[in-house]
Amino acid sequence: MQIHSSIADLRSALKGRGRVVFVPTMGNLHAGHISLMQQARAHGDTVVASIFVNRLQFGPNEDFDKYPRTFADDCAKLEATGVDVLFAPTETDLYPEPQEYTVEPPAIQNVLDGEFRPGHFRGVATVVLKLFNIVQPQTALFGKKDYQQLMVIRNMTRQFALPIEIVGGETVRADDGLALSSRNGYLTPTERAEAPRLRQELEKVRSALRNGESDCVKLENAAIEALTAAGWKTDYVAVRQQSDLARPNSVNVPLVVLAASRLGATRLIDNIEI
Ligand code: PAF
Repeated sequence: MQIHSSIADLRSALKGRGRVVFVPTMGNLHAGHISLMQQARAHGDTVVASIFVNRLQFGPNEDFDKYPRTFADDCAKLEATGVDVLFAPTETDLYPEPQEYTVEPPAIQNVLDGEFRPGHFRGVATVVLKLFNIVQPQTALFGKKDYQQLMVIRNMTRQFALPIEIVGGETVRADDGLALSSRNGYLTPTERAEAPRLRQELEKVRSALRNGESDCVKLENAAIEALTAAGWKTDYVAVRQQSDLARPNSVNVPLVVLAASRLGATRLIDNIEI
């Protein structure tokens, strides 16, 4: 696997490489990332991964400094998965001057996770557009665990007419149902044992909707109450339309139930499609 940190070196390494498939990450790779890398192979000739912890998408009181950085382990995993090229820029490589031109997503950036993480999706969209310009892939893959992020990136790609196919990969879960996430590493053993409840509450919402319940607010509140009773502090549990993440007028359209909740100091997100 080739590893490049400079934009110029990466560009010359990718010349004449055929169809480039790209999986951007912030490192601390787990089986969810590796599954995206494996799927990437089917979409082109050269699989490019990136590792960059993007300061722009972290709020001032968020975990930018303590975000796990495990570069040597990540490289070994990528190598073993057969990734061809890793782009791992430093902050100075990617942001040699302050990034004053940014991508301002529309109202979707202020709901759900955006309501609790102001500026987060601006930071994500800006770095992803920049990475797309550098790597120039024909296809890029993102995990569905970050459902709202995937939608922001899909919409940005379409509206800017970028010639890139965006593919969403299914969420990979631990045996007990917890969605894999780099932030799971922050959980204490007791919190880790409690963490699968988030997914279980989403499953209950899904079952109720499948069994004919149509009062989404009632289901959201019941899930929040159950989480609160178990010691969680919930930002939201929300039933939304898959198409635009708006509140549904009817439960007879494709829906997704999304949640963000804190267990101790760790904020976990999850979602399931209905
Ligand atoms: O999902 C992530 O890991 C990040 O938000 C991304 C897409 C790599 C942008 O920094």
